[in-house]
Amino acid sequence: SSEAYIQYRGILLPLLAHSRESLEYAEKFSVEDSDVFAVTYPKSGTIWMQEILPLVLNGGDPTPVQTIPNWDRVPWLEEKRLALVVDKMESPRGLVTHFPYYLMPPSFHTSKAKVIYVMRNPKDIVVSSYYFHKMAEFLDKPGTFDEFMEKFLEGKVLFGKWTDHVKSWRSTDLGDRIMYITYEEMVQDLPAALRRISDFLGRNLSEEAIQKIAEHCSFATMKRNSMSNFSLVPKVYMNSDTSPFLRKGIVGDWKNHFSPEQLARFSSVIRKELEGENFSLPWSL
Ligand code: PPS
Repeated sequence: SSEAYIQYRGILLPLLAHSRESLEYAEKFSVEDSDVFAVTYPKSGTIWMQEILPLVLNGGDPTPVQTIPNWDRVPWLEEKRLALVVDKMESPRGLVTHFPYYLMPPSFHTSKAKVIYVMRNPKDIVVSSYYFHKMAEFLDKPGTFDEFMEKFLEGKVLFGKWTDHVKSWRSTDLGDRIMYITYEEMVQDLPAALRRISDFLGRNLSEEAIQKIAEHCSFATMKRNSMSNFSLVPKVYMNSDTSPFLRKGIVGDWKNHFSPEQLARFSSVIRKELEGENFSLPWSL
């Protein structure tokens, strides 16, 4: 039911993790120059970045990823946990957010904080999100895959339309404060992705450190890590028997879910909404 959500400046957010207070807190949040934000539309690689950022920033020390739950280690800007843990965070801080660009707080714009924007093929996002809605008991049930896809295309899902999110973050004036990376790139060659991230953040990591970090951030390691696999969340909120949070971790699962008709409809809607944009997508639609 819609009681599970709040509406915030045109977008839908789950009440379990968000409140009027947490959103007000985000608006007034004091961003530091050394902060690093990983920005994602939901199901694009958020918790992966919650693993990667601390390791890259600290040179590969696994202590934080093995002792602090991801939501406190690299908190969401918009969620309730941030206010509770912010005092314990050490600089440079890693944060994540699902906000579109226009919801970033004023202090972000005047800071030098860096952004890593992670994009994922929207066809795989809608599949991942569909299973997430089946297991997340604090969200409305997704209905059939066809029904869920319609909701996704209409933007009647968490954080609104995927195309709006991407457009907002592809047309910022952040210059060299922002880097773009794809989930697909990370799946294909994680060490190469880690090298790019580490260079962007001005870390000069040895090849040995890169390999070690890649091992800590692999799908298999994260799936075993109770600080990262959401097994600490009670089953009444997330039922991993229905579908685990770390579900498949692959590229192209949409092929197992889309009918030819759904593919045609999905592609034409997305293509139309991105018409005339001056960026190209790394996947064919
Ligand atoms: S959320 O709810 O927005 O925070 O979800 P998010 O973390 O953005 O996305 C979840 C999907 O990311 C996959 N994932 C990974 N894939 C490969 N390797 C690693 N290490 C990894 N960590 C998370 C996760 O499995 C979800 O995708 P699907 O396709 O459902 O498996």
